[in-house]
Amino acid sequence: MLSAHIIRNLRNASKLASVAGPNADRIVNVKWSDGKTGEFPLIWLRDTSPDPATYTISPAMTARNLTMLEFDVEQKAKKLWIDGDGDFLKIEWESGVLSTFPSEWLQIRNPSDQEARKRRRKVYLFPEETWGKEEIEKKLKRFSHEEFMKNDRVVHDFLEAVCIDGIAVLKGAPKGVRGAVEAIGDRIGMIKRTHFGIVFEVSTKADASNMAYASNGGLPFHTDFPSLSHPPQLQMLHMLQSAEEGGNSLFVDGFHVAEQLRSENPEVFRILTTHSMEYIEEGYDIHEINGKEFRFDYDMCARHKVIRLNDEGKVNKIQFGNAMRSWFYDCEPSQVQNVYRAMKTFTDHCYQSRNVLKFRLEDGDTVLWANQRLLHTRDGFKNAPGKSRTLTGCYFDWDIVKSRVRHLRDKLELEQNQPSA
Ligand code: OGA
Ligand code: ZN
Repeated sequence: MLSAHIIRNLRNASKLASVAGPNADRIVNVKWSDGKTGEFPLIWLRDTSPDPATYTISPAMTARNLTMLEFDVEQKAKKLWIDGDGDFLKIEWESGVLSTFPSEWLQIRNPSDQEARKRRRKVYLFPEETWGKEEIEKKLKRFSHEEFMKNDRVVHDFLEAVCIDGIAVLKGAPKGVRGAVEAIGDRIGMIKRTHFGIVFEVSTKADASNMAYASNGGLPFHTDFPSLSHPPQLQMLHMLQSAEEGGNSLFVDGFHVAEQLRSENPEVFRILTTHSMEYIEEGYDIHEINGKEFRFDYDMCARHKVIRLNDEGKVNKIQFGNAMRSWFYDCEPSQVQNVYRAMKTFTDHCYQSRNVLKFRLEDGDTVLWANQRLLHTRDGFKNAPGKSRTLTGCYFDWDIVKSRVRHLRDKLELEQNQPSA
């Protein structure tokens, strides 16, 4: 059961030179002919063994047969050896199962190899590097809307850029024509429906249910809807009618700002990664779905840390809205002043010119970005006589965007298409 990819790459993989162990910690030590080494936990090798007894494989599924209820986590190997002139590690288990690990299979999963770890992040599309103004101005990717609509490779490259850089732009859809957001959404996959509907419109309105709709003024740097327990992961905006003056789009990489604070102001970093804010919106929205009106009352509160770290201590989410309160459920009243000071410092960093990406969306341009990584805003604007600055937009989930990327990598047989494990 070797994937076509592995077979193709076997000739490029280094040969296995030796195998030793398992040692007292049940680690198997592998050496390659190029000098690289790997420490593989024996039980993990059994668990992921690429053989038909361990997996059920069909075109739509590669699933483990093993259940933890029956899995013997103390099981031993009868024999381990290098086979096929260094192309394979073979393990015969006490149960009689024979595992065959191609050299490349082990190389791309080698937990001791930093390059393999990095490559894995690329395969799974986790961002590697954060950016400041200078970096993003050099690398911001812009694609033609027309090419995006007809060329799958452009869809792949656009979405991959959003995964890695957190932002990318599509230029030049037909000006002033509605439907671009729906059409782009169709190319990507499922749009995330919220209480704003499937596609929403940003324009100045008399009965505004959101500050962005209340005036022609600028907005503060924010992420959308931290008042929801699951804020949208990605946001897209398309410019239907731009302002005569101003109304530029501004973005800042919140992961970058967080890392700056970690090194330049560790106390602020500590506060923002420790205390949760309460994000509250008050008001309501009404949306019609299949001819029926749904009313969504906001008077609720979601609790999020401004900077959220993952288990490895890496920054992996930013939540920062305007409708925030620091309440006292997780800190003493005497600490609140410092929480506010920390949020102020965070905001000051967002506005520092070394961090800010600023550009103008022309009529027909679209921007897609990671709403829980980048903070965004617009500056104030003046409309042309008789015209009203108008954008349409929608939200997406990462799972949909990443599944589209993986599907296209497979379909187009791109080099980044890797087996998962
Ligand atoms: C918003 C928003 C940006 C813009 O509606 O939340 O950030 O360019 N709008 O109007
Ligand atoms: Zn917004």
